[in-house]
Amino acid sequence: VSQVNISPSSTVPPWSAAHAYTNLYTAKASAQAKVTGNLRITEKDSASDTHHVVLDFGVLSFPVLEGQSIAIAPPGLDALGRPHMPRQYSIASARDGERAGYNNLSITVKRVTEHEGKPHFGVASNYVCDLKVGDTVNIVGPFGSTFLMPNHAQANLLMICTGTGSAPMRGFTERVRREAQAKKPHGKLMLFFGARTQSELPYFGPLTKLPAELIDVNFAFSRTPNAPKKYVQDVMLERAADVVKLLADEQTYLYVCGLKGMETGVLEALRRISADANMDWAALAQAMKTQGRIHFETY
Ligand code: A2P
Repeated sequence: VSQVNISPSSTVPPWSAAHAYTNLYTAKASAQAKVTGNLRITEKDSASDTHHVVLDFGVLSFPVLEGQSIAIAPPGLDALGRPHMPRQYSIASARDGERAGYNNLSITVKRVTEHEGKPHFGVASNYVCDLKVGDTVNIVGPFGSTFLMPNHAQANLLMICTGTGSAPMRGFTERVRREAQAKKPHGKLMLFFGARTQSELPYFGPLTKLPAELIDVNFAFSRTPNAPKKYVQDVMLERAADVVKLLADEQTYLYVCGLKGMETGVLEALRRISADANMDWAALAQAMKTQGRIHFETY
């Protein structure tokens, strides 16, 4: 357990990843996008107010890949009279658009109302969650050149996320879903997704409608009344037999996105699952890291 805190994240993308453009627009020379959609994706009665926001670039060049992020600077000045810092959000859509063939993308944003148990107003997240269709938004980016998906047909994706960390996983899954619709072959997709309750899990409805032949979806709910508290790492252990098959396959690419706190638990689960199958996790993690097959993005 002592060594699992060392970041195993690859500093290279998968060998078959497409070229990612980065830093095309800066805070001083930002891109303008129009809001074409803003939808709450957690249930009305739930404590989490998470929004799916669609931004359209019109004829402006803003090429992105799944797994990349953008940043949004809220208008106005902070208490010290300086412009607000741009905040980064993972892209939740596929490279060919939230709607295929459109120059748009989506992001998944949770309204921040507290921090470490105390009331806290998140300037950027509240701005984004309150955007109206037709509003113009200043965008910086894109960012990210390693947390990218492989593009070869044999590649498997093992995806582990909590809350809004689901955004890149949605992008990856949508890309593979569109490729599958176009009759292109693809590898296995397995997802572990944690949230407090079902009603607070972003995209719960759409996720349950994905066909089992496309993706193996596993939820972990930590605060369902009268049910045991489960984290993604607990459900990974329950599904160890299938997780280990993926880990043993050198065509598997692992992605973890969400709460910083989940890292240790997820790494420990991977170590235990490997050890129980007589696999050396430390060696495997090192190989995956070198090969661009293990990617962590936590906050
Ligand atoms: P918890 O009920 O303990 O907060 P959030 O809603 O804050 O974005 O969190 C998403 C999910 O991640 C929640 O179910 C939360 O559980 C869970 N979580 C919190 N800490 C960890 C951790 N160390 N490992 C895995 N999951 C965690």
